[in-house]
Amino acid sequence: MTPADTMRAPADHTITPRDIRFDTTASHGRPWMGGDPVATAVFNALSMTFPDGERLFMDAVRNYRDQLSGKLLAEARAFIAQEAIHSREHVGLNAGLDRGHYPIDAIETEMRSRLEFLRGRGPMAMLGVTIALEHFTAMMADMFLDAPDFWAGVPEDLVRLWQWHAMEESEHKAVAFDVWREATRDWSPVKRYRMRVRIMVISTIFFTSNICRYSAKLLMADGMGSWKAHLSVLNYLFGKPGLFRKSWTAYWDWFRPNFHPWDHDNSDKLNRWRATFAPPLAA
Ligand SMILES: [Fe+2]
Ligand SMILES: [Fe+2]
Repeated sequence: MTPADTMRAPADHTITPRDIRFDTTASHGRPWMGGDPVATAVFNALSMTFPDGERLFMDAVRNYRDQLSGKLLAEARAFIAQEAIHSREHVGLNAGLDRGHYPIDAIETEMRSRLEFLRGRGPMAMLGVTIALEHFTAMMADMFLDAPDFWAGVPEDLVRLWQWHAMEESEHKAVAFDVWREATRDWSPVKRYRMRVRIMVISTIFFTSNICRYSAKLLMADGMGSWKAHLSVLNYLFGKPGLFRKSWTAYWDWFRPNFHPWDHDNSDKLNRWRATFAPPLAA
């Protein structure tokens, strides 16, 4: 099987790293998500996981670079460039969090020890978790590009940061998956499917529980009681507005045996968003 057989993005699909810098000072010291402390805690928790998480994604794809060629190799390079710039911008956003007030050091220490454990399990485990978490980011990205209600009252530069990130996540949503398909081309369909299911179950448990716990810790640092903090976050994620619940049907698509991220072709929406951002500055 050649790389072209594994790739199902629209034929004219391109992935373009856009080297954009965002002014995140409007987030400093305030509930920048429209004045909502719970939404702010959830988005801060997501942002806190991105720099280390995206470094893992880059390394996971880079590990298989020697097995790639042609369009997939070019896409892998663009994927790495996009994630590197995302990481940089989220470091900037996270720098606005008061490390003396919030337990950021403790959260980062826990997160990094888990990622180190994962790295110790080898390149295939890293790539497996990457394709599962890229499914989550693709689901959230698709929603962020279509949900003005999430951004009501959020400062313009911060909205643009999340929309830019969402747009590029959508653009490269299949790259790690196609690299994994290439890396497992000699596996039987059953072995591939079993790995996808196993890795998604594990990633779902860790990703949702981590975001929930980290968000609650941020709220508790602001004085909210433990129960209220956890219930508020659960409600935000799975009740109203339902950050995770809203993309539940897309989530389950993963478990179809022949699933591919481009089964959900959102290229029309993506093209509309691409037009709203400046021309690419980085090649
Ligand atoms: Fe990213
Ligand atoms: Fe990504």
